Amino acid sequence: MKLSRSASLALFLLFSFYLTSCNSKEEKQETLNKQEELGPRHLRVIWTEDPSTYAIISWTTMLEHGKKHTVYYDTVSREGVKLDYSFQVLASKNGAISMVEEDFKEGVSQGYYHHADLKNLKPSTTYYFVVETDDLVSDEFYFISGPEDDRAFSLLWGGDSRLGGPDPRYAGRTPHVDRQAMNRRIKALMDEDPNILGFIHGADYGTTADWRHLYWWFEDHELVIGEGNRLLPLIISRGNHDMQIGFEENFWLGDTQRKRGFDYYFSTQLGSETAILTLNTEISVAGDQRDWLEENLPKKREENRWLLVNYHRPAYPVVKDFENATFKRVRDTWVPYFEKYNIDLALESDGHILKRTVPIRNNKYDETGIIYIGEGGLGVPQRVADSTRWFIQPPGFAMSAHNVHKLTFSEDKISIKAFGMEGEILDQFEVKPRK
Ligand SMILES: [Fe+2]
Ligand SMILES: [Fe+2]
Repeated sequence: MKLSRSASLALFLLFSFYLTSCNSKEEKQETLNKQEELGPRHLRVIWTEDPSTYAIISWTTMLEHGKKHTVYYDTVSREGVKLDYSFQVLASKNGAISMVEEDFKEGVSQGYYHHADLKNLKPSTTYYFVVETDDLVSDEFYFISGPEDDRAFSLLWGGDSRLGGPDPRYAGRTPHVDRQAMNRRIKALMDEDPNILGFIHGADYGTTADWRHLYWWFEDHELVIGEGNRLLPLIISRGNHDMQIGFEENFWLGDTQRKRGFDYYFSTQLGSETAILTLNTEISVAGDQRDWLEENLPKKREENRWLLVNYHRPAYPVVKDFENATFKRVRDTWVPYFEKYNIDLALESDGHILKRTVPIRNNKYDETGIIYIGEGGLGVPQRVADSTRWFIQPPGFAMSAHNVHKLTFSEDKISIKAFGMEGEILDQFEVKPRK
């Protein structure tokens, strides 16, 4: 069969069009696969000392380190078009996440950490951002910077998420159904209350801070992404299950660590009237840390209406042995300072229970004392409390239930609510200002 010249031309054009469309479809698919495989993931915002002006944005890439890592950000949405954002900053710290033999054995791929410092932020301002590794750009996310005035705000707080599937072998690996359920609860709380500004973590993220555990913690943490891609900034503390180097690689505290190394104790100022002191029970509680506490507590007490402490190992444990040296050293070393400077509330984790103590001073019930709440329930299987301990008799209590707390700070009170996995309120009470 012989085709006319014009018919041949038409056929040629049709064939070329077919080829190009195949190519662009394949290219698109290839870009999507590349984005999925190598693109930025595990985006998070970390708060340290002054959330009204400073935040760290961290993310992971898998398989490849990449060459250039950038955050593009602005106070208005730019819908992910990176060059439209008014500000950009290169990540200041990047590297390969340390891998141990078990990580390889369990088939988690090599990951890389990236951390960027956002400085000179404006307080109480919505920041939209994307992160880019080489040419792979994330979706747009946003967070709200910390306040500098005396407006009311809320924080969520919880700890202990290392186990949580029906099978203990999961040991913090996927599937981690209870941790995931608690993350969905955190997201629901955050979506219903825009005044929740951040999340304080009481530590014990995974069974270890090796990559096979932290990788899944970060994967599950993506469930916390709020409506409109809102991220809830994290205030990090360190627990006894977080001792591997992966913790330092993945939870970088920017200037705080540049100044002081990996101590993981620091003070966070939120608004003009609230300070949260994060302490580290996994290094010496005496020595430098006690000196720091002794120096900072009176200052922070003087400057703030609300002064809280957050740390992992409890001074007043309701599950584990009260006389155990681990808890005794916290009680003997720090509690006298807490009492001297009249902190308003102590946040404790580690025991895997829900508790509220009676107000305590001089190791006994005292109306003017300090209430200790805790002890961690972000999906970790709950233990049973020793119900005979004097400090959880009414109005104190303890019960086995997964839990996350909402703390609402206002001029005349801190309102405290503990929520269970289904959103049920498990405890609520108020703390009044001391001055
Ligand atoms: Fe612990
Ligand atoms: Fe724990």
